[in-house]
Amino acid sequence: MKRIVAILLSNLLCTSAKDCEAGCGISLLQTQLRLGRTAPVLKPVGRSFFSENPANSANWWLRYTTAKPISGGETVGWSQSSESAAVLVDRTTQSGLEGVETLYFLKSADWQSSGKLGMKDFVQAANLSWRSVMERDRAYTPWVDFHDGHWVETLRFDRLEADMLPFQVYPLGFVGRGYVPHTTLTMEWLGPMRPHSEQYAKMVGFEQPDKCRDISKDRIPEVTFWKSTFAVLNASAAKDFAVDLLQAEEVAPNPFPWPRQPDCIAVQWVALPQAFGTFQLHFVEDFVYDTVLHGIPEYLQHQREFLKTGTTECINSFMLNNLILETSSLDPFARRLEELSVPYFAFEIKERYALLFSFPGNEGVTLQLQSAHLSHVVPRPVQICT
Ligand SMILES: *[C@@H]1O[C@H](CO)[C@@H](O)[C@H](O)[C@H]1NC(C)=O
Ligand SMILES: *[C@@H]1O[C@H](CO)[C@@H](O)[C@H](O)[C@H]1NC(C)=O
Repeated sequence: MKRIVAILLSNLLCTSAKDCEAGCGISLLQTQLRLGRTAPVLKPVGRSFFSENPANSANWWLRYTTAKPISGGETVGWSQSSESAAVLVDRTTQSGLEGVETLYFLKSADWQSSGKLGMKDFVQAANLSWRSVMERDRAYTPWVDFHDGHWVETLRFDRLEADMLPFQVYPLGFVGRGYVPHTTLTMEWLGPMRPHSEQYAKMVGFEQPDKCRDISKDRIPEVTFWKSTFAVLNASAAKDFAVDLLQAEEVAPNPFPWPRQPDCIAVQWVALPQAFGTFQLHFVEDFVYDTVLHGIPEYLQHQREFLKTGTTECINSFMLNNLILETSSLDPFARRLEELSVPYFAFEIKERYALLFSFPGNEGVTLQLQSAHLSHVVPRPVQICT
């Protein structure tokens, strides 16, 4: 077992992003020339979750990670929510504590689509799907593909074990994941995770569910908060959209077969511009595993129905699930979204502006761009549609 970990580690280390800096730099330059504009800096700062029980979701982070409670609410929907909670996940560095990711948990009026479905129903589907994995009725479920990824330093594995909390650790003891209670998301940690008791090792040990994955070229991330993963229906469309709008860069090689093969998971990965090797968006097409109650196609259809209403005055509860990226100006993004006829929402929050939109056809990818600058459109006060 130790030997396998050592081999895996050496593979991870010797193919770290540094080895490809020259090559990647060239392709980044080519993209900028092609588009004739300078790629914007997009800094991942946090995530917003729709939660059926914000205090409880936050408590999960406070107990099992290095998170501490914070009072601020620099996110869309904070003041409009009936219940809310926020935490800041930290890491310890030589010079003290450093913030890794701010997390917001919001409960708001729940918009319903024509089938009378709301976020409440999708939370229940994610909850029951996760439970069926923990009970080993399923090896995996596509709901799990909605997650952020941290290096293991933000996890309190000792407390998971003390509470005998259901958790999923892959065979090499290097990938672990847990369900964020009362939300539609899970969280993934990368790095060594070692149960002390045989009982917990048995409880959290699962087969490798990544059907058809080649792990030989996996890399050790260079930063603690290194990725956001999204379940999508068309990974190439999601990638194309990220390359166009965000000027993201495709990450190669692809660890799964592409185009998608029968019984295989398929993915497209991109890195945010000017951050190569430091932050990635992963788009996952999983038609291998199934779900309990409601699945990803229904979830995305729900949001498509909302966007078809054509409203730009209010977002719905679905959009409270978003990844928050900070940038210098929202104008270029608003302009490009208009050119692409993609609906977006521009709001004023505290002393800054926020632009929200969902990827067309892959609506589970919802981003909240925040900036101190917006002049292209007049922002509205935040409203949540019911
Ligand atoms: C899952 O849903 C059940 C029923 O609504 C609830 O009692 C339980 O707390 C939920 N579990 C988690 C981990 O969110
Ligand atoms: C995915 O989207 C691309 C456009 O980016 C399109 O060419 C392709 O046909 C789509 N694939 C499926 C299976 O719909």
